[in-house]
Amino acid sequence: MTDQDHQSSNTVWHQPTVTRSRREQKSGHKSTIIWFTGLSGSGKSTLAHAVEEALHQRGANTFVFDGDNVRHGLCGDLGFSENDRTENIRRVGQMAKLFVESGVIALTAFISPFQVDRRRVRMMVDNDNDFLEVYCQCPLEVCENRDVKGLYQRARKGEIPDFTGISSPYEEPENAELIVDTAKLGIEESVAEVMAMLQSRGIFDAPDGSG
Ligand code: ADX
Repeated sequence: MTDQDHQSSNTVWHQPTVTRSRREQKSGHKSTIIWFTGLSGSGKSTLAHAVEEALHQRGANTFVFDGDNVRHGLCGDLGFSENDRTENIRRVGQMAKLFVESGVIALTAFISPFQVDRRRVRMMVDNDNDFLEVYCQCPLEVCENRDVKGLYQRARKGEIPDFTGISSPYEEPENAELIVDTAKLGIEESVAEVMAMLQSRGIFDAPDGSG
């Protein structure tokens, strides 16, 4: 399904009186989606949660959507075929968009390997600052050596079909708002880069001035 061919006919959009800008005012910052993309083991979830921690400690309203977790619930009916990954990203994109409406900084950590799926989410949102793509750039060899979940080893043995980087492609972002070199940088430096991006875009000003 695409977002254009929805089947819910005879429905009428209800305009809320508590608007996004009123919610943002209450939050004390702008809302946005920080979309982390990269190979399995590239550090997306770790970085998303560390950025959330930094933001939360400074009083921001945040929420992290994590691929492995979301696939236990909302997307538990989906596998890893191209179509299922597309549907996974569509659902998460729509969910994150609702969180933007609610005045929250939504952080998503999904491989999201296909350019076209990420672009579709980018097109869903209202303005340029609502979708900030952060590419966790890490060579396959490094992810494979880390093999935190032991999945690369199983994929190499042919036990996991369509495994990203092994038997299914990963399309690198061409116009990411930020590229984080997660193979070289420590977690604190990586968090600082994301915080600096939020500051420079007027989304969140770190009160302690550390960026
Ligand atoms: S996505 O491609 O649809 O964006 P998502 O981020 O939700 O993927 O889920 C990826 C996680 O599922 C990986 O971190 C890994 O733990 C697990 N996984 C299980 N099977 C696969 C597979 N075939 N390819 C990639 N990841 C897989």
